Amino acid sequence: MPDFAAAYTPAANRYDSMTYNRCGASGLKLPAVSLGFWHNFGDLTPFEHMKSLVFTAFDNGITHFDLANNYGPEYGKAESNCGILLDRYFRRHRDELVISTKAGYDMWPGPYGDHGSRKYLIASLDQSLTRLGLDYVDIFYHHRPDPDTPLEETMGALARIVNSGKALYVGLSNYDGPTMEKAARILDELHVPFIINQNRYNIFDRTIEENGLKDTAKRLGKGIITFSPLAQGLLTNRYLNGVPADSRIALDPRFLQDSALTPERLQQIRELNDIAIARGQTLAEMSLAWLLHDGVVTSVLAGASKPQQILDNIGALKNTTFSAEELARIDEISKR
Ligand SMILES: NC(=O)c1ccc[n+]([C@@H]2O[C@H](COP(=O)([O-])OP(=O)(O)OC[C@H]3O[C@@H](n4cnc5c(N)ncnc54)[C@H](OP(=O)(O)O)[C@@H]3O)[C@@H](O)[C@H]2O)c1
Repeated sequence: MPDFAAAYTPAANRYDSMTYNRCGASGLKLPAVSLGFWHNFGDLTPFEHMKSLVFTAFDNGITHFDLANNYGPEYGKAESNCGILLDRYFRRHRDELVISTKAGYDMWPGPYGDHGSRKYLIASLDQSLTRLGLDYVDIFYHHRPDPDTPLEETMGALARIVNSGKALYVGLSNYDGPTMEKAARILDELHVPFIINQNRYNIFDRTIEENGLKDTAKRLGKGIITFSPLAQGLLTNRYLNGVPADSRIALDPRFLQDSALTPERLQQIRELNDIAIARGQTLAEMSLAWLLHDGVVTSVLAGASKPQQILDNIGALKNTTFSAEELARIDEISKR
């Protein structure tokens, strides 16, 4: 491994092995594999380890780091740790990076620190920029739909944010197809560059195939970046033989508990793993490749607890082609 204690000079060949996909019909390209800061960038992780993760990512062409106001623990910590990393090591590389953040879930107490009001979104981005030490983010997302706030108000806040120069593009996260289309119409009228949807999508979770998001994004020329593409680690070889002591379930089970490892789930994971082996891939590689195979998904937004996982995930790009039989078998296993 490189010596991360020394000053950081990124690898000269860092763009050579990454694929960059156009984000919908926009001018922005994103790496086919992006890095998420939801886990492993808060109080639980040593700073040196965070360095090794971001350096490995950037050295291998991952130009997109994804955050949110409340990633931690504590809330805000992923952004402030990212801010330190950017300030110390990436000042000269700011224009090579796409940094995104979000607001829409609970962030601070009281009625103004959650959901989709103009009051919340504008204040939250200001706080995020302070923690990140940035003048602007590249993409700002509304993190989840808020049925109690008029869509016009939330979209108007996104317009204000872009017009004030605090975000270059906007995105929507966790929207369904019809709601996203309504929002897109409002944003078009306001001339706001809405270019991307961020939704959970993986072999086990087909929600966006069912709620219209995937088809609508394709039809409207919007990008899709898929979060939890490895189902938080279930779609890897991590849990094939029990729960490792260094896994998310063992170390940080805020959002993934061992109750997810039912005998039925384990059986599916084993059968999917057999398909991956037959393809000459790891299960993680096959799971990411599967998301990219039909060309609709712009980028898979994977998390990583170890630098090697980032390298393995980029390895998925070596083979994103599937036979009809493989696709049918993956559907048959995952949908039963
Ligand atoms: N918009 C939203 O509402 C929303 C919600 C959730 C997440 N997100 C975004 O999506 C990002 C990714 O989410 P996620 O962390 O759930 O994604 P994920 O990629 O499904 O899961 C990441 C975990 O999988 C394991 N892993 C990764 N690569 C591996 C490999 N090659 N081999 C074996 N195990 C591997 C690691 O688990 P171990 O820790 O066990 O090693 C890692 O922490 C987040 O960081 C965040 O940016 C957005």
